[in-house]
Amino acid sequence: MGRIDKITKGKGIWLIDSKGNKIIDAVGSMWCNVWGHSNPQLINAITTQSKKIQHSSLFNLTNEPIEKLAKNLTRISPGMNKVFFSDNGSSAMEIAIKMALQYWSNIGETKKTQIATLENGYHGDTFGAMSVGYVPEFFGKFKKQLFSTIQFPVPNKYRVPNGITLVDYQNNCLDKIEKRFSKNNDIAAFIMESGAQMAGGVIIYPQEFQRKISKLCKKYNILFVLDEIATGFGRLGSMVQYEEQKSIPDIVAYGKMLTGGYLTMAATLANKKIYDSFSGEFYDWKHLFHGHTFTGNPIAASVANENILMYEKYNLIKKIQKTSKIFSKYYQEILDIDIVGDIRHKGMLMGIELVSNKEKKIPIRTKKSINKVFFEEGKKQGIYLRTLGNIVMLVPPLSIKENELDMLLSRTIKTIQAAKSKII
Ligand SMILES: Cc1ncc(COP(=O)(O)O)c(C=O)c1O
Repeated sequence: MGRIDKITKGKGIWLIDSKGNKIIDAVGSMWCNVWGHSNPQLINAITTQSKKIQHSSLFNLTNEPIEKLAKNLTRISPGMNKVFFSDNGSSAMEIAIKMALQYWSNIGETKKTQIATLENGYHGDTFGAMSVGYVPEFFGKFKKQLFSTIQFPVPNKYRVPNGITLVDYQNNCLDKIEKRFSKNNDIAAFIMESGAQMAGGVIIYPQEFQRKISKLCKKYNILFVLDEIATGFGRLGSMVQYEEQKSIPDIVAYGKMLTGGYLTMAATLANKKIYDSFSGEFYDWKHLFHGHTFTGNPIAASVANENILMYEKYNLIKKIQKTSKIFSKYYQEILDIDIVGDIRHKGMLMGIELVSNKEKKIPIRTKKSINKVFFEEGKKQGIYLRTLGNIVMLVPPLSIKENELDMLLSRTIKTIQAAKSKII
């Protein structure tokens, strides 16, 4: 089992190699898988559409599946009016950044050119996305080439400073934001992940944090831009995370789970105010100069439409909320492991923070790659695991069954125990 080689097949939660070895896809194939692998309905949507038209451009033209998808997306996204399609999450965020900056220029407001973000945020690997989601470990080598942003701290429930409550901590963070917002009228947009920071270490925001930022944005006339690429579409237990957070954005991006995780597609949605600012006569040059070859691909759109239909038909969000309770059965057992400092769980996401000292909450640091150790040990237990820094992440297919999640969690515990001696 330790010797999984090339993946040749997938079935449900399982990835299968050329020799028939099986591992549980605990990563949801990079956090995007919804219905497991080889789902017949999604495959059917792909094959049916691929016999009609495989790709046709959205430049001047349109196609049936993409129009249907635009309707589906605006229907499920309160406050959103129009959709700009792309083919990966990083591009969707580039588009969100360009839309937000150009909005102010289109309406003749030239002072608003700065972007505010949260420390630890992650929004993709292209240059704009790296700038607004600057993770020093990933992007340090390009620091000089990135544009500067105004970063604010995030109240991390696990690391509340001594002597204050979580509420105080959160208020301090919000005060910092308000203080800067009120200083200059130079901020175009506030960009953040919706509900939780994923790559930044599974930091689930305390209640009200996101809603209060959205209110500050309204108060100071700053666009509120949300990244739901990893956290929307049920990952945190709601179809649209910003609805749960009571924080309607001006612009929001979806990706990953949009096609059930089968084909590459992302979308940037905007409200009417943003959209309207881009219309005018051709010579006004108000349009958004952005378009990718595969923007609006009809096969990806067809599978996305089928995926959304299935969420509704099979009541997936309710199922996630029920199945997600299985995680809590294992909290104590995981926390009892001496290198586990914290577990953070919401919906179909769990982050397990590894520490070298529980009391002082010191993150485990080692010269070895923790990710490699967990990947190897995970394979021996029959799971495909990926860690980010000292955080073990469980991001399984959203439709995972209760007994399968039990199996995944038991195997994760065994993996952490086996990996322990290899990383300390
Ligand atoms: C929150 C968030 N935004 C954007 C992206 C970038 O998406 P992609 O990898 O499709 O470019 C990711 C990818 O992990 C993400 O987690």
